[in-house]
Amino acid sequence: MTRKEGDRSPAVLGLGVAARVRVRVPATTANLGPGFDALGMALALFNRFEVERLPEGCYVEAHGQSADLIPQGEDNLVVRAARAVWERAGLEPAGWRVRLWTEIPLGCGLGSSASAIVGGVVAANVLAGEPLGTDELLAIAAGLEGHADNVTAAMLGGFTVATHRPGEAVRWERVEVRGVRAVVAVPDVVLPTERSRRVLPKAVSLADAVFNVGRASLLVAAMAVGDRAGIAAGLDDRLHQPYRASLVPGFGSVVAAAKGAGALGAVLSGAGPSVLALIPEPMNAEPVGEAMVGAFRDAGVTARWLALSPDHGGVAVEQIDALDGHRAAGREVL
Ligand code: HSE
Repeated sequence: MTRKEGDRSPAVLGLGVAARVRVRVPATTANLGPGFDALGMALALFNRFEVERLPEGCYVEAHGQSADLIPQGEDNLVVRAARAVWERAGLEPAGWRVRLWTEIPLGCGLGSSASAIVGGVVAANVLAGEPLGTDELLAIAAGLEGHADNVTAAMLGGFTVATHRPGEAVRWERVEVRGVRAVVAVPDVVLPTERSRRVLPKAVSLADAVFNVGRASLLVAAMAVGDRAGIAAGLDDRLHQPYRASLVPGFGSVVAAAKGAGALGAVLSGAGPSVLALIPEPMNAEPVGEAMVGAFRDAGVTARWLALSPDHGGVAVEQIDALDGHRAAGREVL
């Protein structure tokens, strides 16, 4: 089911240590309803990051969706992630040049920050000659992100379960997604993750916790065997969506519209504000997308929709330029 071993070094490719690396990282949706901070799924929409080590300095060049909103200094997430790998590997401080091309909408609950972190840790690890393994990279990424759900799905692809406590390894499992794909409605609403987390209660009732344990467990099992009825029943949640609904105008009616148009169910994508519907293959995505956008419109919000297939590859190294000028095309990372 899962590759958990098998680090490979650029030496396998006969490259020596790399000078510049380009990686591709998928979008992700987290939580999938009941699996708050644990469940994730990779989606076939990609950001690309080219990372080059310099003697010093920090240069970031962003292209694509919301490029002007991406931090271009030391606080850029790709740079922070690369630096964290360098420090963990015990290497001398370095400078960085990062070029990035974004397709994933920024700050919409589709894992744009996780993509930058995963891109940064994987690219830096390849540049360093791959001193760190997948689990060490995941622990660094989860520490930077604050939770492991998005970064695990971005790293591994597929449908993932991840648990993480500070200072511990990320425990994870991954399954292929079968028989469903996503329709995501992206509203023109700004909802920072911090704000969406601030509305959550400090404690919940045992009844609500038990409800979510049941639904999340059902969802994981149903995903593993591709049982659509189980997936539909497993999307319910009482831990976070009831509290966040008021931050996303029309949330309840968007979910109802998706189901009314034939979706198995619909949930807040990550911390929102996007709403993710799962539809059975080979159903046409358009009626569901249009229904969700229409429900947002009725609530006074403009939105657009995207039909997204699951991504099963996770992060991929697309190109490696070696110190001797030799260039290699892509390969699997894990
Ligand atoms: N699990 C996180 C949350 C995802 O719901 O806050 C944020 O991207």
